[in-house]
Amino acid sequence: MQTGYLCGMILQNDILLRAARGEKVERVPVWLMRQAGRILAEYRAVREKAGSFIKLATTPELAAEVTIQPVDILGVDAAIIFSDILVVPEAMGLPYEMIEQRGPVFPQTVRTQQDLSRLRVADAESDLGYVLDAIKIVKNELAGRVPLIGFAGAPFTIFCYMTEGKGSKTFSVAKKLLYTDPEFAHALLQKITDSTIGYLQAQIRAGANIVQIFDSWAGILSPEQYDTFSLPYIRQICDAITDTPVTVFAKGAFFARQAIGQLNCSVVGLDWNMDAAESRQLIPEKTLQGNLDPCVLYASFDQIRAEARKMVQTFGTQRYIANLGHGVYPDTDPDKVRCFIDAIKEFGQA
Ligand code: CP3
Repeated sequence: MQTGYLCGMILQNDILLRAARGEKVERVPVWLMRQAGRILAEYRAVREKAGSFIKLATTPELAAEVTIQPVDILGVDAAIIFSDILVVPEAMGLPYEMIEQRGPVFPQTVRTQQDLSRLRVADAESDLGYVLDAIKIVKNELAGRVPLIGFAGAPFTIFCYMTEGKGSKTFSVAKKLLYTDPEFAHALLQKITDSTIGYLQAQIRAGANIVQIFDSWAGILSPEQYDTFSLPYIRQICDAITDTPVTVFAKGAFFARQAIGQLNCSVVGLDWNMDAAESRQLIPEKTLQGNLDPCVLYASFDQIRAEARKMVQTFGTQRYIANLGHGVYPDTDPDKVRCFIDAIKEFGQA
């Protein structure tokens, strides 16, 4: 088995990191966005014990436990720290609630310079110490079995939640502000960016081996707006992280693939609308990650195997990390997820 020396600890399985750095791998690494979550009965039991999502996320021992579950139960090639992208606004002074069946809600929103002046740049060590503690526990308990992925939301996606106050199909309140008060939008985006850079650097110091930026709402912007309100802030984050691979996943931003491919990042995440061959052409220098439609995991075991095989054939075995094109849906059968992971391990041999 190949080994790698990282963070003072030998990783027994470092294929994800080697693929991220563009080094040769003997098979395609695989993990799933949202792998630590409701698909697993074992997660639901710990969540029940914690009492709420926020309690679970802010209790380092429990967050560490659900982070490691998919490594043991599903056989993925990486763990992703159990948390949420919305811990950053909370650390800036804007608390959120997680409402059952509905999702996140911010009781207060940020829509004016005055609202913004009440927020601070998050200090990761003091405001997000519970995530850093969870990372340290996970690293210790994983004992080098697989790498740990840290993450944060992209500034534009965080801006959407902070201004809108809740999830939305259109995020029209957030987008309206880009037209009516671009100066405010840039000021808020910069404060989120500064908070995020410190947070990701702290995750890396605590032990994260690679970090992913989730721009989940990239696809609601026009190409011009994306260039103005999202890309420059992601670029600042990529430029501030120099010693650790960064993955940029901008869902729906098919139009920005070339520009994202030129960022100072190692991996570009793709959703299922983005064609593999076309993406290779647009992003020739990076490792690609993705992009199976999560709904394939509702199909038969045979169909899942066939789709996984086709995906590896189109992306190839090098400079590639297998994943879904977005987070796994909570009502997915874990046996189907395991089927997908096993199929990648079988068909992804170099
Ligand atoms: O396994 C993992 O990927 C790590 C944990 C993780 C969570 N959220 C836990 C979670 C990660 C990486 C996230 C990222 C996240 N959170 C994103 C970006 C990725 C994406 O899916 O686009 C976004 C947009 C959020 C915000 C968020 N958190 C929403 C909209 C919701 C409600 C919808 C839903 O999935 O329930 C959440 C809640 C949430 N975050 C849950 C989990 C496991 C479910 C709540 C619960 O278990 O009670």
